[in-house]
Amino acid sequence: MWAVTIERQGAPATLRWAEVPDPVAGPAEVLIDVAASGVNRADLLQAAGRYPVPPGASEILGMECSGVISAVGPGVTSWRVGEQVCALLAGGGYAQKVAVPAVQVLPVPDGVSLLDAAGLPEVTCTVWSNLVMTAGLRARQIVLIHGGGSGIGTMAIQVARQEGATVAVTASRPRTLEFCRELGAQITIDYGREDFVEVLLAATDGHGADIILDVVGAKYLQRNIAALADGGRLVTIGLQGGTTAELDINTLLRKRAGIIATALRSRPVGGSGSKGEIVAEVRERLWPMISSGAVRPVIDSVFDMAKAGDAHRRMAAGGHVGKILLRAPAVDRRPPAAAARTP
Ligand SMILES: NC(=O)c1ccc[n+]([C@@H]2O[C@H](COP(=O)([O-])OP(=O)(O)OC[C@H]3O[C@@H](n4cnc5c(N)ncnc54)[C@H](OP(=O)(O)O)[C@@H]3O)[C@@H](O)[C@H]2O)c1
Repeated sequence: MWAVTIERQGAPATLRWAEVPDPVAGPAEVLIDVAASGVNRADLLQAAGRYPVPPGASEILGMECSGVISAVGPGVTSWRVGEQVCALLAGGGYAQKVAVPAVQVLPVPDGVSLLDAAGLPEVTCTVWSNLVMTAGLRARQIVLIHGGGSGIGTMAIQVARQEGATVAVTASRPRTLEFCRELGAQITIDYGREDFVEVLLAATDGHGADIILDVVGAKYLQRNIAALADGGRLVTIGLQGGTTAELDINTLLRKRAGIIATALRSRPVGGSGSKGEIVAEVRERLWPMISSGAVRPVIDSVFDMAKAGDAHRRMAAGGHVGKILLRAPAVDRRPPAAAARTP
């Protein structure tokens, strides 16, 4: 098969479309002929050599894909060859084929194209596991989502609104803030020009956020704690503003507040807190919202997979809203050409 390989690590990295060995579906795995793969910020870090893949995972980029099941490994009874699916991957999505544990596979939701489904697994599983399963999101809570225009942010706004929360977002461009409002955000904050703590407290009569979904990390730690309501939860999933900061435990203590940091990719396949557990809950609770049209994938742009470098440059430049996708060329299933056969 063909896949995107990293010829030279860096920011930007040199990516190459190259022939590589085919993956094989092992026990409890399925093999997917990839239709498309989603680009995630972690892919840029991996290409730069700053995100080691979890042990046992493919070195090929790509943490999610859509496609058609072409083989099932020993012990798989939940999926059949020919089914259209999307899947959460530990790696290997920037390729024509990928093998993935069957428990990380989801059906393509009704009303969503096979292409667009490639952008769903990572954002739905990250948002649901953090906002609902970890932070305990409930109706009438106030949720602050940093980076409202990101792939993660555009899904988080919709999920939080569906769960009955009031949603505040930060973003850096008027066009992005406007789009967040269209998706349902009620409080929009230009983080480059406004102090999000001041704006949020003013807009919520001093209450603050019951939950903050944070992608910035160290740079926002103190202001995030200042923005938390009593009993609030700060859930950090991104470290774009650094990893190390001083923590004022006294403010946390007085607010009875908590800080949680999570990563999806390094979770185990099965058991408590696993990817399999998250995918099962996402399928049961979030997939019906997508199938009904209440929650929709937000797609910024689509690139040919062989041009993955252009897609990475678009993400690195910023200003995109929603997911960037890579369309894979179809797997060639024709028999070998006649000329290659001996008479
Ligand atoms: N822990 C996990 O399991 C997990 C899983 C998936 C993603 N993530 C993380 O989630 C984040 C979003 O991922 P993605 O793939 O959706 O990336 P993305 O689409 O490229 O989004 C990056 C976002 O970060 C925002 N941002 C950057 N600096 C900011 C600041 N100082 N204040 C507020 N927002 C800021 C950007 O906002 P503007 O464009 O408006 O400036 C942009 O919306 C990344 O940090 C990623 O690593 C974590």
